[in-house]
Amino acid sequence: MYRQSLEGLTPGAVLAKTVYDDVGRPLLTAGTVLSSRYVDALRARGLLSVYVRDGLADDVVPVDIVTEQVRATITGHVATTFTSIALVAQERGAGPGGVDGMVDRLGEEPIALDGGGTRALADLYADVEYLIAEVLEHDSAAGLASLKTHSSYTFEHSVDVAVIGVLLGRRLGMPRDRLRELALGCLMHDIGKTYVDQTILDKPGPLTGEEFAAIQQHPYLGFELLRRMPFRSLLPAHVAYQHHEKQGGGGYPRGLVGDNTVGARTVHERIGAGRMLLIAEIGAVADVYSALASDRPYRAALPPDRVTATLTEMAGPHLNAEIVGWLRRLVPSYPVGSWVEVRPGSRWAGWRGVVTAVPYARLDEPRVRLLLDAGGEEVADPVDLDVRDHANVRLASLPATAPDPHRRTAPTGRSA
Ligand SMILES: [Fe+2]
Ligand SMILES: [Fe+2]
Repeated sequence: MYRQSLEGLTPGAVLAKTVYDDVGRPLLTAGTVLSSRYVDALRARGLLSVYVRDGLADDVVPVDIVTEQVRATITGHVATTFTSIALVAQERGAGPGGVDGMVDRLGEEPIALDGGGTRALADLYADVEYLIAEVLEHDSAAGLASLKTHSSYTFEHSVDVAVIGVLLGRRLGMPRDRLRELALGCLMHDIGKTYVDQTILDKPGPLTGEEFAAIQQHPYLGFELLRRMPFRSLLPAHVAYQHHEKQGGGGYPRGLVGDNTVGARTVHERIGAGRMLLIAEIGAVADVYSALASDRPYRAALPPDRVTATLTEMAGPHLNAEIVGWLRRLVPSYPVGSWVEVRPGSRWAGWRGVVTAVPYARLDEPRVRLLLDAGGEEVADPVDLDVRDHANVRLASLPATAPDPHRRTAPTGRSA
């Protein structure tokens, strides 16, 4: 199976992975033949791409760290928690004076959630345990490619950030308690966005100074809300506060700095008031990773190899370089189930195919199955290639959301 954009979908393709609604119930089950009516239903759900099988590489099964169903369930709990916190804060903080006025009016009393909010938070605590347990069973994110919807982006993004964050935190040797704080902080890091005008968040063009200033308030407000929540620690609030800070300074809201390493943390954290916390540096890396890999109103998702290349470019001045280095060992540039094209320089130049496996030790040298020749024609005998065995074979990812990314000419004679 492979990932296909809805735009490029031909009716008759078979859904390869079940699609869930926003509370984790199956909307369309795997095996459904996608008629145009079903494609409309997927579009109405806000999906941009799905996994399909259509006779090409049907045996390739991307295994996500967290299943789509679990993702959908946690996404629902994140959404409910956001809404409950926003509601209480609005009641207590409504009035003039912008964010500062609102924070003043919140006072120092803890925020008491209503029954629904308390339940959602309890669900979220349970989700955190589940998420950590799932991540602990995986060495890397070989098939990570969660499907996103327009309508629930912030919540789905939050779950992504938590999964990547915990994957990183585990690799950096964080104890279980710290992983919990990290996961909760990642799930809640953008809660301050509930007060930013949605039209600004979704604006397709460049932002005005005023609009950017409005967006820049979300880490501070997030911190002020989360530190009043009945969490067992302040660290999740600091993930929200610091996730837009940069290693070289110049981030917001406080212009904290980092030194691009992971070690010698405790002393620095105690004495260096202007320094980012490790837990927030991990959150920042996971946040950028998820944003680059997602479709946004102002740009399409970057192809997977551009995501990892861009993170590497941002390492140093912006993102903690040592953490990005670890991420490069955890997240492949060519995930299982994604389409790739062979670059010039070998006999397969211009051929296209699907990644079938990613070796753990050499994450960026996958096995691929070449299905289409340089002219875009299906080949009679697909070529299974282990990139590790061919030094002259270099790959380029094809974007998952481009219309019909993998076919230049219409294939013929294939059963759906
Ligand atoms: Fe943010
Ligand atoms: Fe974010």
